Amino acid sequence: MVKMVVNILGLAFVIAPTTAAQQGLSTAPFERGQGLYQENCALCHQDSGAGSPPTFPALSGNDLLRNTARITRSIRQGTNRMPPFPGLNAEDISSLATYIRNAWANNYSNVTSEEIAVVLGGAEKIGQLISVWDGVSTEAQAARGQALYAGSCGLCHGRRLNGAPDDPDMVSTPPLARARFLRVWAGRSLATLFAYTRATMPESNPSSLTDQEYVDVMSYMLTAGGVPAGEDELRPDLQSLARVVIQPQR
Ligand code: HEC
Ligand code: HEC
Repeated sequence: MVKMVVNILGLAFVIAPTTAAQQGLSTAPFERGQGLYQENCALCHQDSGAGSPPTFPALSGNDLLRNTARITRSIRQGTNRMPPFPGLNAEDISSLATYIRNAWANNYSNVTSEEIAVVLGGAEKIGQLISVWDGVSTEAQAARGQALYAGSCGLCHGRRLNGAPDDPDMVSTPPLARARFLRVWAGRSLATLFAYTRATMPESNPSSLTDQEYVDVMSYMLTAGGVPAGEDELRPDLQSLARVVIQPQR
């Protein structure tokens, strides 16, 4: 029950009007970082910075945040379990680092974009991003994903991927396709969807599919919701998935 309330609040947040920080107005780095954090990071590390250990580590009270270079690399390149954010530039990363180093229980110094640019070492330009609407997976991949979905996800998320479980006695779950799903996830990358889903789903047995199977299911979630397939399959590689942004419509 508690979980559902949190989920509803999360949804309300995601569709809230854009903040000054998101519009690139000149706000102080801490506020700007807070906006970026809520859009990109709070899904896993929570608004409170408490995360949900051991799946997603807490950032509040985390000693690793002393190390600005490490924060920069984690954000830009990701880790095995955290998605990379190739669309965030040096100023974004410095605002984020300033925020997470000073929010909650943390009390480290602010970080300038010059410091971040040094760590990025000439790679401060942001990477090319594409949209899920650019034909990022294939019909064949979606068909494989459909079979996996039926076996591993459909019981809870429903045959129509709308969150209405096939068994009427079971609680409803979030939809995994179409407008409402795409709106909730808008602005996030497929790497975030992949890393989050792999770490937490199936809820009864997280991480029980292979990486290939998780991207196959994602292909099905997209095409079942009307997103067109293309020529190339989605690959189970965080760097390439991070370049594909979820958008509600073309
Ligand atoms: C899909 C979930 C997810 C999202 C979204 C996410 N993280 Fe993480 N983050 C993780 C996981 C999992 C780890 C642990 C990484 C590991 O051990 O490989 C982590 C680790 C970290 C760490 C500690 C890294 C270290 O040095 O070990 C920092 C700092 C961090 N995240 C910041 C962020 C920021 C800032 C954002 C938003 C730009 C973000 N994370 C978005 C899942 C996520
Ligand atoms: C045992 C039931 C169950 C199974 C099986 C299951 N899920 Fe879930 N799923 C849930 C519940 C409950 C939530 C909501 C969790 C929360 O908000 O903390 C959820 C949330 C999600 C979310 C986040 C959606 C959002 O917008 O918040 C995704 C993505 C997801 N599931 C994907 C999958 C995939 C893919 C599979 C199959 C590999 C799967 N789930 C299998 C119960 C399940």
